[in-house]
Amino acid sequence: MASGKPLAAVTCTAPVNIAVIKYWGKRDEELVLPINSSLSVTLHQEQLRTTTTAAVSPDFTEDRIWLNGREEDVGQPRLQACLREIRRLARERRRTQDGDALAPSPSYKVHIASVNNFPTAAGLASSAAGYACLAYTLAQVYGVDSDLSEVARRGSGSACRSLHGGFVEWQMGVQADGTDSVARPVAPESHWPELRVLILVVSAEKKLTGSTVGMQTSVETSALLKFRAEAVVPARMREMTRCIQERDFQGFGQLTMRDSNQFHATCLDTFPPIFYLNDTSRRIIHLVHCFNAHHGQTKVAYTFDAGPNAVVFTLEDTVAEFVAAVRHSFPPESNGDKFVQGLQVAPALLPDDLKAALALEPTPGGVKYIISTQVGPGPQVLRDPQAHLLGPDGLPRPAA
Ligand code: DP6
Repeated sequence: MASGKPLAAVTCTAPVNIAVIKYWGKRDEELVLPINSSLSVTLHQEQLRTTTTAAVSPDFTEDRIWLNGREEDVGQPRLQACLREIRRLARERRRTQDGDALAPSPSYKVHIASVNNFPTAAGLASSAAGYACLAYTLAQVYGVDSDLSEVARRGSGSACRSLHGGFVEWQMGVQADGTDSVARPVAPESHWPELRVLILVVSAEKKLTGSTVGMQTSVETSALLKFRAEAVVPARMREMTRCIQERDFQGFGQLTMRDSNQFHATCLDTFPPIFYLNDTSRRIIHLVHCFNAHHGQTKVAYTFDAGPNAVVFTLEDTVAEFVAAVRHSFPPESNGDKFVQGLQVAPALLPDDLKAALALEPTPGGVKYIISTQVGPGPQVLRDPQAHLLGPDGLPRPAA
């Protein structure tokens, strides 16, 4: 199909986020409204990001999308919900604010191309960054400047938290139409400069149970999940916010681990049960507790989403020693020199007493590699026209 010249093209990037108070369960499947509020840390886009280009033209005859270079079905319901929602906001803006005379008509078809700078197959949350980037880029191209929580949320619940940098809460809201179910910054990216994030990649396999279906079954069958949403999370949201505001790592780390454990307990309480953690995940949990016990304080904290990879929070001064402990417990099988990627980690010797305290038979190859990163900013617009993933014909540029 021949395509006309794009009228406008915009390219943006968006980050991955990791929840420290987890979202699990919807009260409205269609509107993607959660049964509890959640809170996350935005990871730096230097290490993990989605880049999306959106181009509109009166000559385009249909909406089209390419993900990581392959054309995908634009008709899938979540994508359609995002497109419908952004066009509704664009129309509203035209009507109520006389609009931006230069903004393209919401009825123009759009071409979208999106890539991740990390392997989608690595089992790292890509849908949050993907849908946040989609919402943000579409808003830029159609001239929408309102809150984008709903647009991103309709793609994937956790995506609304990737619309901001730093520390972000997604308030569950109480309205039936979801207008108050929005993501809000709790503290900016610069708030806690010593905080570091290590992603321990355990498996590149596709998970058995996706989050959408998993949480649906949990809502239907787990009494523990209902209890968690009603009686546990509200106080935890307040406590986590305090820990972040006061940069209280002890409190932050302990609550992060407890909330991850409770989320996985609700998975076990789901019927039939869902297992996201594997043997290596459990070894990492053990390693973290041994490490903390040896130091007599919480120096590192793990959290796990709907998969076996661990995300570990720690402070800058502990990174080198903890990475040495991971290397000791999970000796790299092949990629010794590429075992740690991202922010540089200085080599460190593991003291003998700490080595003894780890009390685990080393498991070679259990951890495939580590991505070392930190807290980062929200979505960005790339001004350089070279960054566009779509060429002047509105089709994907050949990969460089
Ligand atoms: C365990 O946002 O992927 O990562 O809204 O159905 O797309 P959908 O689910 P999704 O669920 C994320 C679940 C989690 C916890 C979290 O990120 O809060």
